[in-house]
Amino acid sequence: MLAFVGPGDEVLTFEPFYDAYGAVIGLSGATHVTAPLLAPDFYPDMTAMEAAFTDRTRVVLLNNPHNPTGAVFPRHVLQRVVELAAKHDCLVITDEVYEHLTFGARHIPVATLPGAAERTITLSSAGKTFSFTGWKIGWLTGPDHLVAAVRTVKQFLTYSSGTPFQAAIATGLALPDEFYQGVAATLQKKRDILSEGLRAAGFDVYTPQGTYFVNVDIAPLGIGDSVDLARRLPGLVGVAAIPVPVFCHPEGAERTRSLLRFAFCKKVELLEEAAARLATLSGKL
Ligand SMILES: Cc1ncc(COP(=O)(O)O)c(C=O)c1O
Repeated sequence: MLAFVGPGDEVLTFEPFYDAYGAVIGLSGATHVTAPLLAPDFYPDMTAMEAAFTDRTRVVLLNNPHNPTGAVFPRHVLQRVVELAAKHDCLVITDEVYEHLTFGARHIPVATLPGAAERTITLSSAGKTFSFTGWKIGWLTGPDHLVAAVRTVKQFLTYSSGTPFQAAIATGLALPDEFYQGVAATLQKKRDILSEGLRAAGFDVYTPQGTYFVNVDIAPLGIGDSVDLARRLPGLVGVAAIPVPVFCHPEGAERTRSLLRFAFCKKVELLEEAAARLATLSGKL
């Protein structure tokens, strides 16, 4: 963001959005504009997305697979983003850190679509695929001049990253495809364990196609406010979740008021324990 935008520019993201996006766009001084993702599949409202582009849009910051919704966007959605970015002559920065964590749906790297490569920077990270979130090893790819702009800023922020970790991750990236398929298959089983537990607890479950997050609607339990339930949940059953409104601006927060995000990047036994605890929830409300 610091490499590409500043005050007076607009950066467009979907909403809900990964919370760091709001912060980094804020640091850059640009304005954060959003286009809503709509349940049940959490694909964008295409008309709203088109309307959100203006002559000030400099960057479309995409995230696919998407945190917090778990959506994996199909080709026609991504292609439309690229077309609109071309029409408004803006960059696409695509955060694909969950690229290997998909369950049946195919992850399509935006940069592979017609007209995208010359205006797209692709980001990924070791944090999700290898479960090394604390290592903070990530990478980006794109046209030379765009990568150079990022390096120019990075040079004066942290200069380098954890060099020994980079060598370890480079070895990991050379692992055979089966490793990556195994990671996704294991995670899919975990998704199913937690989703089943959430369903049995009485929530409406939006089955994610990717990431390690599952969203539920809490309305069937007779509660409307997920922020309130998220505060009470640890005390009631010893399980923590994040309310989706915290990933939104005020209007989006109202739209997602009854949505709660759970994470299933945990050991199977822990997920089973969580499911058992959640089964007692309705009796405690
Ligand atoms: C969408 C998204 N992008 C980026 C990150 C940051 O990844 P890392 O900590 O590996 O840099 C996260 C972590 O939660 C994320 O959900």
